[in-house]
Amino acid sequence: MASQPQLNTAVRPQTLVSGIRSTGELHLGNYYGALRGLLSLQDRYDSFFFIADLHALTTHPDPDNRIRQTIEVAKDYIAAGVDPRRSAFYDQSSIAAELAELHLYLSMVMPLGELIRCPTFKEKAKKHPDNVNYGLVGYPVLMTADILIHKSELVQVGEDQLVHLEIARTITRRFNQLYGEVFPEPHPLVEHAVRIPALSGEGKMSKSDSADAYVSLKDDPERIGTKVKKAYSDPTRIRRELPGTPTREGCNVYHLHSYFSHDTMKSAIREQCLSAKIGCVQCKALLTESLVSVVEPIRERRERFSDADIVELLHIGSEKARLSAQAVISEVRRAMGFTMV
Ligand code: TRP
Ligand code: SF4
Repeated sequence: MASQPQLNTAVRPQTLVSGIRSTGELHLGNYYGALRGLLSLQDRYDSFFFIADLHALTTHPDPDNRIRQTIEVAKDYIAAGVDPRRSAFYDQSSIAAELAELHLYLSMVMPLGELIRCPTFKEKAKKHPDNVNYGLVGYPVLMTADILIHKSELVQVGEDQLVHLEIARTITRRFNQLYGEVFPEPHPLVEHAVRIPALSGEGKMSKSDSADAYVSLKDDPERIGTKVKKAYSDPTRIRRELPGTPTREGCNVYHLHSYFSHDTMKSAIREQCLSAKIGCVQCKALLTESLVSVVEPIRERRERFSDADIVELLHIGSEKARLSAQAVISEVRRAMGFTMV
């Protein structure tokens, strides 16, 4: 009899880590880009998601609003679907002691020259020559500590962070060479960036643009409607009686429909725009409907959480993260010869 493949139920799911920037509100571009990918991962892996409030110190030293920002970002992520019962969802600073210790050990195996040559460091140093702090050079080392503190095999990052992950892999190898196979070498899971066009028609949605150019996950239907009314559409359709150009390149509003509207709506718009049966005002009203159907469930969920709820959920996440971090720190101390028997 052919042997059946054995399902090994004892196999532990792989551990995944992702750090979330703690500055700025989320918009539809973030949701379609990074966030939806993140949500699909939490079912498959033993996930640790944290708000990178320590990393934020390199560029945001000001204590005012720090907690406010953490709560807002956490609310966005929880409303969008991060499940704090399934994943450990915490603020990085709540395990600062463990991270600082691991960061110190890792800093001893990482050559300074390579950190100074790192393109993201050079870029930041050039942009803020008056604030080239020690922490900025060590940014990738702290990131490595974030990953290794849970012995993560997988790291979800944007493409801009891949250089940091290469450094993390280098540090892991060097540490293991010196102290034995303590850590698995972490692998990146790259977020596939979906570039949602800005309402203004200029580039992609970005929170550094004016608030009218992006749809925030906090926008209510009325606000979305107002923003979409002002959106840039086909510049060649100067009169209602003229047909438009319902393509991604020809009309920014159509381009947005291509992401957010159902196929039947899209083909109806295409047909009626080409025969001038639909006007841009009506077409924008349809786009508003599509956008509202994506944003409104998230916004409603967001409203159901008080600040105290969020603080409580982060606290639960921190406890989980701390347990995992402390176990790893003990093992590291042992491997490095710091434990007296
Ligand atoms: N530096 C990352 C960013 O800017 C955030 C981050 C911090 C991170 N620590 C991490 C991401 C560890 C993955 C793993 O997006
Ligand atoms: Fe663009 Fe819609 Fe106007 Fe056609 S009707 S030009 S697709 S906004």
